[in-house]
Amino acid sequence: MAASKSLLLFLAIAATAAIVSAHNITDMLKDFPQYSVFSNYLQQTRLADEINSRQTITVLVVANGALSPILDKHPLSVIKNLLSLHIVLDYYDPAKLHKISNGTTLSTTLYQTTGHAPGNLGFVNITDLQGGKVGFGSAVPGSKLESSYTKSVVSLPYNISVIEISAPIVAQGILTAPAPSASDVNITALLEKAGCKTFAALIVSNGVIKTYESAVEKGLTIFAPNDEAFKADGVPDLSKLTNAEVVSLLLYHALPGYTPIGTLKTTKDPINTLATGSAGKFDITTTTAGDAVTLHTGVGPSRVADTVLDSTPLAIFSVDSVLLPSELFGKSPSPAPAPEPVSSPSPTPSVAPSPSPIAKAPSPLAASPPAPPSDTPEGSPANAPSAEAETSTPGSFAVGVKASGMVAVAVIATTMISSLLLS
Ligand SMILES: *[C@@H]1O[C@H](CO)[C@@H](O)[C@H](O)[C@H]1NC(C)=O
Ligand SMILES: *[C@@H]1O[C@H](CO)[C@@H](O)[C@H](O)[C@H]1NC(C)=O
Ligand SMILES: *[C@@H]1O[C@H](CO)[C@@H](O)[C@H](O)[C@H]1NC(C)=O
Ligand SMILES: *[C@@H]1O[C@H](CO)[C@@H](O)[C@H](O)[C@H]1NC(C)=O
Ligand SMILES: *[C@@H]1O[C@H](CO)[C@@H](O)[C@H](O)[C@H]1NC(C)=O
Repeated sequence: MAASKSLLLFLAIAATAAIVSAHNITDMLKDFPQYSVFSNYLQQTRLADEINSRQTITVLVVANGALSPILDKHPLSVIKNLLSLHIVLDYYDPAKLHKISNGTTLSTTLYQTTGHAPGNLGFVNITDLQGGKVGFGSAVPGSKLESSYTKSVVSLPYNISVIEISAPIVAQGILTAPAPSASDVNITALLEKAGCKTFAALIVSNGVIKTYESAVEKGLTIFAPNDEAFKADGVPDLSKLTNAEVVSLLLYHALPGYTPIGTLKTTKDPINTLATGSAGKFDITTTTAGDAVTLHTGVGPSRVADTVLDSTPLAIFSVDSVLLPSELFGKSPSPAPAPEPVSSPSPTPSVAPSPSPIAKAPSPLAASPPAPPSDTPEGSPANAPSAEAETSTPGSFAVGVKASGMVAVAVIATTMISSLLLS
């Protein structure tokens, strides 16, 4: 009896240990219905993934009654900007709020990392007021501290703190800033400007632009190889492919759905592309090292070089290698794999038109060619599969962890059972 109880305990511990620890803001807020509007918008804008992918963060939540009247009428892109101002890239719990040096500080928010926050718009002013009150407001000069600290909701020191403030922080102009409707965006013009002229010409000449445009409304993510990527050795001669194959290749460079960088970082499962369907899986997996995200096709890796556009429901990234689906260019276990583009690096950095969260990466562009940076801040071995490990199972980390957990359990169980039998 005692032995089987401890066996169960062992199983429970082993199962818990197999779970990768990281915070999940949706889960943290699910027992607080008073913040359900805030939480729903975090999910719709994918800001939840951005929060989950960051190590040190404070989320300033606002109760439904104070938030809904201000947000509900606006398009999701505006809501995303406003909520980004409520995600502070530092850890503030009540104790730290009352220890702000000189009683006032400007703290960086997620909005600042979008690269299109002029002046002080991307910062919040946190001021320790008289009588233990802490005020919050936009850092734009002339703004009032219109919101104040109400209570601490939940915290995991010193990773994430969720605190309630009395009213949303509405920076001047943030609600009226022109929010280009996704259907107004000229995708080809943006791609040309971002140094992806070859790709832009290909999607136009093959009519794939029409498919992209009709997909935008439901959410679309485009990975556009830059012009250098098409000049790299190992890039297949497109004139040798059938029209249908070229179209598949181009559709493979887009995902159905809005998938900003934070979502790419937190997605462990293979992601379907527009090419996914009857002709094959045509999926992509991602790995992350710090701020750098690498896409894996099964044939070779490609680094996400820059954010060209992140405007719900459309995200456009430039990537530094053409994405070669294994369905067209050799399956992993195939006896004669297609030439690895890995062995033919294209060291030319891509054109970086604007600052972006990605551009803040420890210089993934200037760094050595295709191998993803091997230093992983979380110290997780999974985040740094070598470029050569392309053939490994997608999502092998989670599988690996669980598998080794299972093996450990199996060994323990076997040992215990045999000791039971012996006694
Ligand atoms: C986060 O938590 C929510 C609610 O518990 C769950 O539905 C979701 O799958 C979780 N996300 C991740 C990435 O684990
Ligand atoms: C605090 O205020 C003093 C005097 O005004 C100034 O010299 C110092 O730099 C301030 N410290 C911080 C952290 O802002
Ligand atoms: C924050 O706002 C208050 C009130 O407007 C202002 O007095 C203070 O100087 C601001 N703090 C900083 C660091 O700018
Ligand atoms: C904070 O994050 C680290 C790294 O992910 C983790 O090991 C630690 O347990 C977390 N702390 C809390 C309180 O969750
Ligand atoms: C989009 O931009 C391209 C290239 O700059 C241009 O040729 C095209 O006419 C534009 N389309 C629209 C609808 O404005």
